[in-house]
Order: sequence, then C-alpha cells, then structure tokens
Amino acid sequence: MNQGKRVLLIVAGGIAAYKSLELIRLLRARGISVRCVLTRAGARFVTPLSLSSLSEDKVYEDLFELTGESEMGHIEFSRDADLLVVAPATADILAKMRAGIADDLATTTLLATDKPVMVAPAMNVRMWEHAATRENMAVLRERGVLEVGPDEGDMACGEYGFGRMSEPAAIAEAIGFFFQTSDRLKGRRAIVTSGPTVEAIDPVRYIANRSSGRQGHAIARALAAEGAETVLVTGPTTLPDPANMTVVHVNSADEMLKATQDALPADIVVCAAAVADWRVDRRADRKIKKNGSTPDLKLVENPDILATLSSASPNRARLVVGFAAETGDVIDQAAAKRAKKGCDWIVANDVSPETETFGGGDNTVHVIDDAGVEDWPTMSKERVGARLAARIADHLAGGGAAE
Ligand code: CTP
Repeated sequence: MNQGKRVLLIVAGGIAAYKSLELIRLLRARGISVRCVLTRAGARFVTPLSLSSLSEDKVYEDLFELTGESEMGHIEFSRDADLLVVAPATADILAKMRAGIADDLATTTLLATDKPVMVAPAMNVRMWEHAATRENMAVLRERGVLEVGPDEGDMACGEYGFGRMSEPAAIAEAIGFFFQTSDRLKGRRAIVTSGPTVEAIDPVRYIANRSSGRQGHAIARALAAEGAETVLVTGPTTLPDPANMTVVHVNSADEMLKATQDALPADIVVCAAAVADWRVDRRADRKIKKNGSTPDLKLVENPDILATLSSASPNRARLVVGFAAETGDVIDQAAAKRAKKGCDWIVANDVSPETETFGGGDNTVHVIDDAGVEDWPTMSKERVGARLAARIADHLAGGGAAE
C-alpha cells in the first residue's frame, strides 16, 4: 500500500540513532524508499556507510555538497520526498525547528520544506520535561508537525522516564499509517469545513475563536487518503494546505457558507469548523477610534452552515456529519444539536480549557448517530480523522443512506 512513497530521514545526534538503521529496514520492507540526511552529531553515533548500505542511496551530510549537484540546492532537497522524518529528534533539533534556525543541511532542509514533517523525539527525561522543550513541541504541533513518542522506560543515561525514542516498529507503523491510502471512497466527493471564522469589526479588529483547524484538516486528509475527491473550506489557520485536495480559504461565516454551497453536490459533508456565531451588524469601513465612550456593537447571528447543508434539498449530501464543541453535558448537548441541525452523525467533544482540545494535538470524541453513542478513546486528531473517514467509508459501502 505504501509502494512508491519516499521518506527523507533526518538522523540527528542521539544514542537512539542506531535505531534508525532498523527503521530504514522496516520502511523499505513496506516498499517505502528512504534517503538519509545525517547531522554532524548524528555521525558520532552511526556511520554514513551503514545508512547508505541500508537505504541503498547516498547519505547527505553537508549543506555545501549540494551546491555542486546540478540544480538541487537545499531549497529543493526535499522536493522528491513525501514525508520528512526526524528520528531521533533531539531537544536541540526541535528547538532549532521551532526557532527556524538553519545552520546545517538538516535544519536548512526542515526550514525550506513544504512537505509534512514527523518527529520521533529522543532525549533525557528532564530535557523532555523542560519547559523549553514543552513549548517547542507545542509550537511545532500547532504548525502541524506530526509526532511519534517518546516512550517511557529506562534510558541510556541510567534514568527512567519519558524521552526514549519510540521503537522503530512503532515509527514505521506511524509512517505507514500516514501514507495509508485506499480507494474505498473513490468516486465520492467530500466537503470539509475547518478552522475558525473571523468576523471583521473594522479593518483591524475582528471576532474569532481558538480553533486551530487541526481536526478538520486531519479529517480532510483522511478522506482524501481513502480516495475521496475532497474540498477543504477553511478559515484562517497556521496550518499548511494539505496535498491532494482543493483548498478554499475564507474568512467569515458568510464566505464559508458560500464556498461550501459552491462546492456542492457532494456525497459527504463534514462540518468541523468552529464558525463564529455572531458578526457585527454593520462593519465599519474605517478603524473605529476611541472617543471616550465604548462602541455600541450590534451583533447578528451568522448563518448556520451545518443546518443549511443538512436541510432537505436536491443537493443534500448522503451523509452530513457535524461536530459539537461542548463544555458540559457533552452527550446530551450534542444529541440535542444533532436533532436541531438535522445532520446524520454528530461528533461530540469536550472543549473545556482543561481538556486542551482547542489547539491541542489530541481529542476525545463520542460519535452519535441513530444507533446510539460510540465512545472513542483519547487519540491524536490525526487518528480521529482516519477513524472517522474509515467509518464513513464503511457506512457508504454498506449502502447506508442518510437516516
Ligand atoms: N456550525 C456551522 N455554522 C454555524 C455554527 C456552527 O456550520 N454558524 C457547525 C459546526 O461546524 C459544528 C456544529 O455546527 O459542526 C456545532 O457547532 P458548535 O460550535 O458546537 O455549536 P453552535 O451551533 O455554535 O451552538 P453553541 O455555540 O450554542 O453551542
């Protein structure tokens, strides 16, 4: 299934670098080709010869060796790769990725790439738990960097805790999962809304919310990976546009509704966007100045995109899926929302601040349909997307009509 996929594997300097050799072997066994970049520190742990023997390709170590090579400078170095994997990803390289430092071939490639990036962190437990690393990881996640591990266990330094690089088999599985494609939704058309909407108050101010778009983007990627012709309609996010689909960028709820309706007809609609509920009635053309009194902003309700697309019409998709962001009575509130809006399934999640769902990497959801409530364990938003896409594919394959 992964035949023909290409990974650019960046091996940084950690004792876990030896595990990269096994990772290369496992990836190649899955039909994935691997090209390696070895950092200077990495070369203290594994030799370029071992990497090149296993990858059966040249190993790249130095930024300047690229300039001699016809057209392929560092900017284009990752052009041929489908995914960049940093394993082991040391605290140092994660910090550089976060800061945008480009002082060698590995970091320059990471800064110049427009391809998805996955990291497998490996470091001492206290380095992993240090506020600096935590912040770096949070920012990288926010930018859409995928992560595997680290695991908990004994460390080379004699300590115990989180920081051990995941086993090569687990990393290979995560990469295989990323590449997983099927054609179960081939011939189907899907529309996904994602991200926040922003509602202008005047040319510089707006009403918005904390949605990162990660869940919606992950669903769109997963539907495309199942073969659906996918249109992603997204509000402003910091995420890169996913490949293999049409991406329509919008700002306001009105624009999102129009873009979604323009993309019809579709077999599947998933509304994962956190649409702003209100907009100001009259947007000011010029910046509102302070004049001693507070502005009297009259808010009006935005159109409900999910309810509009769920209502009976010749264009209604076979399956319309909504989300319910709740901060209490999650299941009851979500079930009521499903009934009110008329969608077929609703995916309920708790977005109370302590869950860190908004902006975070994980999600705990409950899928509600006519058959009842299905509780899913906490998992990455990527996995929620994949599982939802698989459920949709099963449903449509079973001839499931919109209930
Ligand atoms: N939604 C939408 N258009 C809106 C508001 C919400 O399409 N104007 C969709 C969301 O994409 C989601 C579902 O409706 O699929 C529920 O959104 P949520 O924010 O949980 O609920 P609201 O309808 O906004 O209700 P409330 O804020 O009162 O909980």
